[in-house]
Amino acid sequence: MNENEEDFVMAFQDSCDRPTLLLIHGFPLSSQMWTPQLEDLGEYVRVIAPDLRGFGQSDSVPGPYTIAQLADDCADLLGHLNVASPFVVCGLSMGGYIALEFYRRYPELVAGLILVSTRAGADSEEAKANRDKSAELAKNEGATAVSAQMLPKMMAPEFYESDEELVEFVEEIMSAASLNGVVGALAAMRDRIDSTPTLDDIAAPVLIIHGADDQLIPPSEAELMYKAIPDADLVIIPDAGHLPNLEQPDIFNDAVIDFLEELFGEDDEDE
Ligand code: MLT
Repeated sequence: MNENEEDFVMAFQDSCDRPTLLLIHGFPLSSQMWTPQLEDLGEYVRVIAPDLRGFGQSDSVPGPYTIAQLADDCADLLGHLNVASPFVVCGLSMGGYIALEFYRRYPELVAGLILVSTRAGADSEEAKANRDKSAELAKNEGATAVSAQMLPKMMAPEFYESDEELVEFVEEIMSAASLNGVVGALAAMRDRIDSTPTLDDIAAPVLIIHGADDQLIPPSEAELMYKAIPDADLVIIPDAGHLPNLEQPDIFNDAVIDFLEELFGEDDEDE
């Protein structure tokens, strides 16, 4: 222990002075699903992609989880990294549920929202019962039994049938999900609140991205959000399913870059 140690607020400069983009993954994936964005968006923004509790390389803490807790985990991480706010929060599917909750809890931290392959509504009674069935399946047969059921629906049928590399990549990411993560996140999604009333209160600009061939969440959900959010753009990506950032990374990244440039201004390349 340093005898001179006392509490004080230390100022510092950081060479990474670009705005930050937080990428929140879907279920039952991990930050690895953002590989094309981590590769290509780094020249525009500082990209931070956490593994949610129970997923990827994060600790497999027992559940049940809540969407609020997952949003707080992300806020704590960015606080810990001293990220200069406000930043852009992007979430895919379950990540979108978390992004909306993040906005409700920390609107002052959010410069913009990107909602991908997601919906605002809560689970129906039937969907809640299906979450419980999936949790039972995971407990009885392992977490990969749930991913195996989901895999064919994660991408557009044309990719599932012909893009072996993409299918293997997604399968590998899903196989890293722990039993605690899968069961915990299923409970969080089952019990999430309806975010529809939040939509017309969103003051930040919002970009909504959806695959035209999404088999898990129909594009009509994206259109509903687009109509309800005051300052929203909608990009429906053709030939893409639930994972448009992996199926059509160039189109996806271009849409995100346009949004970021609108928000933060274009870099002057002559400078
Ligand atoms: C996801 O991709 O995160 C999940 O499919 C979302 C959900 O099951 O509601």
